[in-house]
Amino acid sequence: MLKKWWHNTIGYQIYPKSFQDTNGDGIGDIRGVIRHLDDLQDLGINVIWLCPIYKSPMVDHGYDISDYDRIDPMFGTNEEMEELILEADKRGIKILMDLVVNHTSDQHEWFQKAMADPDSEYADYYIIKEGDGNNPPNNWRSIFGGSAWEKIGDTNKYYLHLFTKGQPDLNWENPKLREIIYDMVNRWLDMGLGGFRIDAISHLKKNFAYVNQPADGPDGLASAWDYFRNAKGLNVFLNELNEKTFKPHNALTIGEVDDVRPEELGEFIGDDGYFSTIFDFCHTQFHVKDKEWKDRPLEMIRELRERLFAKQDYAKGHGLMCNFTDNHDTSRSVERFIPEAYISFYSESLLASVNFFLRGIVFLYQGQEIGMRDYQKKSINEFLDLATFNNYNGYLLKGMTEEEALEKVNNECREHSRTPMQWNDRKNAGFTEGTPWFEVNPNYRRINYETQKKDENSLLSYYKKMIALRKREDLEEAFIYGDTIPRYEDQDGIIAYERRYEGKRILAIHNCNAREIRLPLGDEIGEILLNNYEKLNVGDGNVVLSGFQSVITKLI
Ligand code: GLC
Ligand code: CA
Repeated sequence: MLKKWWHNTIGYQIYPKSFQDTNGDGIGDIRGVIRHLDDLQDLGINVIWLCPIYKSPMVDHGYDISDYDRIDPMFGTNEEMEELILEADKRGIKILMDLVVNHTSDQHEWFQKAMADPDSEYADYYIIKEGDGNNPPNNWRSIFGGSAWEKIGDTNKYYLHLFTKGQPDLNWENPKLREIIYDMVNRWLDMGLGGFRIDAISHLKKNFAYVNQPADGPDGLASAWDYFRNAKGLNVFLNELNEKTFKPHNALTIGEVDDVRPEELGEFIGDDGYFSTIFDFCHTQFHVKDKEWKDRPLEMIRELRERLFAKQDYAKGHGLMCNFTDNHDTSRSVERFIPEAYISFYSESLLASVNFFLRGIVFLYQGQEIGMRDYQKKSINEFLDLATFNNYNGYLLKGMTEEEALEKVNNECREHSRTPMQWNDRKNAGFTEGTPWFEVNPNYRRINYETQKKDENSLLSYYKKMIALRKREDLEEAFIYGDTIPRYEDQDGIIAYERRYEGKRILAIHNCNAREIRLPLGDEIGEILLNNYEKLNVGDGNVVLSGFQSVITKLI
């Protein structure tokens, strides 16, 4: 594996709308990110990924772009963006933007022109098909629910939207459109961006067989994943995109890739892969409150462990995975992995540490470092996101009561991670002087950045220690490149692994049980690198871990 500049990435994802407002309009902005660069440097991160801040009508909170070259005035100006890149650079931090090129907004000039004249060249920028009699071209369900097709005026033509109808899919089969996209990507990279997180990239290629699928729900539609996720031929587009943009810029790129086949991983993240690394979600989709796991939390841990180790194994000969637990599309990991009665500093730091010392690069999501929590809503009307409403309606259709459907969205909806960042215990958690666009979680008086910054035993301080450890000069390469060897796989509730690199051996043990566990330890414990408890009980060839204790130690 070739060494690359970004291999030591400790990344931090910002959801700009909810990070810091500086002009009192209740919406976070670029100035807000600039204001907190020193805090982020203090945390130890060296890469920031910004969720989309391009011009957008915000139907999907910026994932519906109406002008790829302009920053939305809600967030600031292009000049402020340049300033952010420069200011971050002074602190050794690279900025990644979000690249959303599976679809545009329906307000994008191209789409407007395509609708005004379905015979113009712009119509070929999108995926437009004749209806099947009085029906849409096929019965595909959109990823956000409802038909994936929207009828165009009084024609019998429809356009495809895999997400909301405000997000028409681009036609990647059109070579001219592809060139226009590559030019745009290069303009941003030339400005000094470190790279991109690339949105919904598994969907660029559609299988044009377009046959109806057997309906798989009461809406008569079908989730035809095989036709629009990782479809045959996707590699051609991804390769071209890389060759013409990312590669010549030596950019850091993180593909949002669903369900990559293990045997294809090398094509995605290898030395010559389409991307530097990927966000894949196979280990994030657990919830302790789900029926499946509610009464069997330890089995959930076992399953999680299997998936984490399988991923380490697949990636081994190819490249680096991206280790993360939270993002703007998930509820908070603390809520997903730890039964409510057990949420504490110990279990939270343990969860972070499980993820942190695996082979790969690390990514955090804003608020994770202070243990921000989901804000349970009392009514469906308190939510804002279209995906939430679609899921809620889907549950009602399936026969759930309103209470049950609300409980389900309260457990799993992605909006929980989008509540404003909790900076301090003053008005609106210090996020805004105005009225926040989305309600602040009232627990901010207890959970906030300022309080934790002053406390060396806080979760925030623990994150700083973890980051400092990953960057420790004599160990950094071992944490990035070292092999991962699972340990104690026969023990319930233990996630333990050894990292081995050039004669160095580091052991990470995480006791996900609430009770004490005794483990045989034949090896000599060397320097203890990190411990979320004050002590570690070792003796007689055993180590005794308290409930939710996690320890990183050198082995001699
Ligand atoms: C990605 C984004 C998500 C967005 C969707 C459509 O999954 O992370 O927030 O809604 O793509 O662009
Ligand atoms: Ca603002």
